[in-house]
Amino acid sequence: MRITFGLGAAALVLVLGAAGADGPGETPREIPPGPLGDVIRLGETLVQETATHPMTKPYVGNALNCTSCHLANGTDPEAGTFLGTATAYPAYSPREGRVLTLEDRILNCFMRSCHGVRPPLGSEPSVAIAAYITWLSAGQPLRMNPKRPAGPGAIRPLGLAAESADAERGKALYAENCADCHADDGRGRKENPPVWGDRSYNQGAGLANTPQLAAWLKVAMPLDDPHLTEQEALDVAAYVNSHDRPAFRLEDHLPPDDKLGEYNAAADAPGR
Ligand code: HEC
Ligand code: HEC
Repeated sequence: MRITFGLGAAALVLVLGAAGADGPGETPREIPPGPLGDVIRLGETLVQETATHPMTKPYVGNALNCTSCHLANGTDPEAGTFLGTATAYPAYSPREGRVLTLEDRILNCFMRSCHGVRPPLGSEPSVAIAAYITWLSAGQPLRMNPKRPAGPGAIRPLGLAAESADAERGKALYAENCADCHADDGRGRKENPPVWGDRSYNQGAGLANTPQLAAWLKVAMPLDDPHLTEQEALDVAAYVNSHDRPAFRLEDHLPPDDKLGEYNAAADAPGR
């Protein structure tokens, strides 16, 4: 009896592993059945189609989707990974001076990276994205972060001083490595999003900080072939961030006070 069961479980793990959804050492992920699974799938779609999906479009003020920076819907192990992210929350955030939940952290990316309005806490898109990102940590132990709101896979800072950035060198590197996709004027082209200008991330976004952009570029760009040295990543980051992009004024990005949070229950719920 026991042996049969053990073999069955091993075979199941093998089958799930072959599906390629998991990195080494991770617990196999399976979408749970029922409404929770539906919400997780919705969250994945919203991460991919943030700027165009009817549920999130009203909250996005530029051309970016979450997956524009959290590559492969957050399943890239390095470039803005969501793998393991949920294990770090609630986490203390020096920027907000508060302990943030994962949902808070998600909504802040709407205001800054997506240059939009913070969706209400407990709203359908907020819950769906939180469910998707949490599902990507299924089976992992909690590792709450008392220093900053960042998961165990968060992008590692480069070992270079910001002052050593040279935007002139970055200009040549951009022409050679980036302009084919993002265009000479940084406005993007087809599925390649704008990297500066009024349709890109605003000055309150993480990537507007040049060392942070450099650290992300090092593991993310050029797409499918990130090969820049640390110095090159810093130089091209300085060039990209030397251009105009929207200013960030917090009050422009918060919903009215009465819409900050919602009573999270369905209209026909038995509890109403
Ligand atoms: C312009 C790029 C960009 C876009 C678009 C973007 N993000 Fe982010 N996001 C970042 C960066 C950079 C960080 C890391 C900030 C840091 O190092 O503290 C981050 C951090 C996060 C974190 C915390 C990760 C961790 O390790 O704890 C979450 C969750 C998150 N983003 C969710 C989202 C969601 C959901 C969307 C879409 C609504 C989104 N982001 C859109 C750049 C972006
Ligand atoms: C082969 C095309 C390609 C090349 C080359 C490329 N990128 Fe990208 N880049 C993309 C795509 C596509 C995305 C969005 C990712 C997605 O949707 O999967 C992106 C996302 C970005 C983003 C985050 C989103 C935004 O628009 O702000 C930045 C910043 C960026 N790239 C900068 C660069 C820089 C700098 C280089 C050169 C070192 C570069 N890219 C090279 C295709 C490319």
